[in-house]
Amino acid sequence: MANPNHPFLAACRRQKTPYTPVWLMRQAGRYMPEYRKLRSEFSFLDLCKRPDLAAEITVTPVERLGVDAAILFADILLILEPMGLGLKYSKDDGPVIDAQIRSRTDVEQLQEFEPEEALSFVMETVRKSRAALNGKVPLIGFSGAPFTLASYIMEGGGSRNYLQTKKLIYSDPGAWRALMERLSAAVSKYLNAQIAAGAEAVQLFDSWVGCLSPDDYQKYVLPYTRTTIAAITPGIPVIHFSTGTAGMLKLIKEAGGDVIGLDWRIHLDQGWAQLGYDVGVQGNLDPAALLASPKQIRLGVEEILKRAAGKPGHIFNLGHGVLPETPVDHVIAMVQTVHELSAR
Ligand code: CP3
Repeated sequence: MANPNHPFLAACRRQKTPYTPVWLMRQAGRYMPEYRKLRSEFSFLDLCKRPDLAAEITVTPVERLGVDAAILFADILLILEPMGLGLKYSKDDGPVIDAQIRSRTDVEQLQEFEPEEALSFVMETVRKSRAALNGKVPLIGFSGAPFTLASYIMEGGGSRNYLQTKKLIYSDPGAWRALMERLSAAVSKYLNAQIAAGAEAVQLFDSWVGCLSPDDYQKYVLPYTRTTIAAITPGIPVIHFSTGTAGMLKLIKEAGGDVIGLDWRIHLDQGWAQLGYDVGVQGNLDPAALLASPKQIRLGVEEILKRAAGKPGHIFNLGHGVLPETPVDHVIAMVQTVHELSAR
């Protein structure tokens, strides 16, 4: 187990740390030559289902980048397979989910499952990653949040306007609520299984919930995210991440989480002030900033650290995942700069 006083875990509890801990969403991925090499031999789903390889991919960025946490190599959509929805990753269009959900009857046909059995490969990746990390840094488990999962189910993949999702919300709120209840129960059970297997913190990705108005968030999402988070094993820090939600941070906080993710569309100090200092914050460099020179990256890091003002409870991260075009050297420079400029 990582030391419970490790800077990442201490920051999740808003305790003082010797420097600001840093990790990156999608730190294991296509921008990394080591990952691309494995991907040339295996499909993405095969990698997820091979715990030896998935654990190796989980640990590599810790060694290569010097980050303060590892994140399980998996995907938010893996949970859809044991629910009875077909999942594929196509080369050009990203994830594709077949089987459509259009009514309450469809929702009732979604299968219930035991995560230790149906997603045993994820739990095995957690155990193998923990063993390989050997207490060096904490391991973060994760899941998609109910809304973001529902949006993939409704749209059949990524989307621009989330019209099918919104159509269900407005035309058949009963079916929507039934779907969100199913997902909420499945997600907390899945996260608790990851925790039982060894995850030391968990992140809930509500990546696309910023497409909703604050009122719709409050009515159709908040209660279910709140139920999900409330059911997570006590004592394990929860990071509640979303993007495009600068106009409804108070509601995001109401849904729960020890640490709230901020994207780059809001100043970190403004976001934190709105949330209140009884939660931590994670973020919030624009992922595209890593395409700039290390000199410019330094200015970006400096600005965010200045806004965090050394308050306990800041975890440095990007506002969203690393872009595939990002040079690895720039990521290393960012991590070093965070450690250097935040040392206290
Ligand atoms: O952060 C990490 O390093 C851990 C691994 C991780 C992946 N996906 C690996 C992955 C995590 C935490 C995720 C979460 C995820 N997956 C999210 C939430 C994060 C976010 O970006 O908001 C979402 C929306 C997905 C769904 C998903 N998976 C999409 C849209 C795609 C295709 C497009 C893309 O961005 O890559 C994936 C595939 C995927 N997930 C890859 C990886 C490394 C690329 C697969 C490949 O090798 O081609």
